[in-house]
Amino acid sequence: MGRILIVCPRDLTKYLVTECKALGLVVLDEEPSGVWVEGSLLDTFRMNLMLRTAHRVLYLLREFRATEPQELYREINSLPWEDHIKSNGYLSVLSNADTPAILDTRFLNLKVKDAIVDRIRDKTGRRPDSGSELRGVVVNVYWKGDRCSVYLDTSGEPLSKRGYRKHPHKAPMQESLAAAVVMATGWDGQGAFINPMCGSGTLAIEAALIALGRAPAATRLDFAFMHLKGYLPEALKALRAEVRGQVRKSIPGRIIATDNDPNAITAARRNAETAGLGHLIEFEVCDFQDTPIPEGGGVVVINPEYGKRIGLEEKLADTYGLIGDFFKHKCQGYHGYVFTGNMKLAKKIGLRTKSRREFHNGPIECRLLEYELYEGSRRGPDPGGPDPAGQGPGGQGPEGPDPTGPEPAG
Ligand SMILES: C[S@@+](CC[C@H](N)C(=O)[O-])C[C@H]1O[C@@H](n2cnc3c(N)ncnc32)[C@H](O)[C@@H]1O
Repeated sequence: MGRILIVCPRDLTKYLVTECKALGLVVLDEEPSGVWVEGSLLDTFRMNLMLRTAHRVLYLLREFRATEPQELYREINSLPWEDHIKSNGYLSVLSNADTPAILDTRFLNLKVKDAIVDRIRDKTGRRPDSGSELRGVVVNVYWKGDRCSVYLDTSGEPLSKRGYRKHPHKAPMQESLAAAVVMATGWDGQGAFINPMCGSGTLAIEAALIALGRAPAATRLDFAFMHLKGYLPEALKALRAEVRGQVRKSIPGRIIATDNDPNAITAARRNAETAGLGHLIEFEVCDFQDTPIPEGGGVVVINPEYGKRIGLEEKLADTYGLIGDFFKHKCQGYHGYVFTGNMKLAKKIGLRTKSRREFHNGPIECRLLEYELYEGSRRGPDPGGPDPAGQGPGGQGPEGPDPTGPEPAG
């Protein structure tokens, strides 16, 4: 047993904690961008396969103090790498440094790589190959101040790359973020999941994976742990069979994804098919306002353009106003959600928010705004009124006080 740091984008930590607990993992601590759990190298297989909001699963090998690169070399060189890496294997190093000792992480990567391959050459007479492609064993080093941590990175390529999005459309959402957004809506397969403006279909696909209880990396072929010395393919095979056995055959609710761009729907449909979910999602080319809304309620999740990456703010103001009308007139009995990075535009929706959850889409600060769409939704005071000065995302909008308080709702 050892300590494992599961890394995720900031804002996803609380969703990752929920996932870890659901997997029965002992959560030791939380970081701004990760969660510490206890477990063995074998346990990392399950984490890699099952966690929707994680990006990397790092198994801690050693923590030590160092103030200059040669000290780091000595410490790393003293670890028994020959137990983990085959002398004819392939190694990559990833690192993060926040120390005056390192000005360029490429130098740090090289120092770490040398320390490891020199050790293996001394013990076995042969040096493993190395490079930047994440196709073999991956070692991750974090050096902050005088404290260094060395990990076996059991994931390799980030876990957000599920492998199904072969056809990205405009501004696609990262798969892990989309999973967290679906988790935030609480949708579990009951009722409908409606995703107008679906783009490449990420939200609908992640919703389908969640509702089925299917492991997000069920079809991913390569993980860095598979290249470690002593890796047992049978263990992964058994685990894959176990998680396959837990998948629900169908879901009680419906998933409907629409977009007014036929290319988006072609891409989304292909992505869903690649994920093996083509039969579960009903796609349609239409304006978002014409999206079919079945009786019985559920969630409507819209990720409109928000003028920072694509689209123009002025043009989008009308669209946001129409989203408010669509929610109010066509989605009664549903929970409406808008994921946006532009709170000025969000005010044009003109409905009272029930909650606002904080996210980042890359560097852009975003909110997932929730609207309870009961019969005759209340409009707040004039949504077109002046924008209160200094109001950042999550500030009090003209809809009135945010019932969730200053912190994003949990
Ligand atoms: C930010 S992208 C959505 C990205 C999506 N979440 C993903 O992960 O790929 C916004 C989408 O809204 C679509 N769109 C814009 N205006 C629309 C409208 N009036 N009706 C329907 N779709 C629209 C665009 O074609 C684009 O695909």
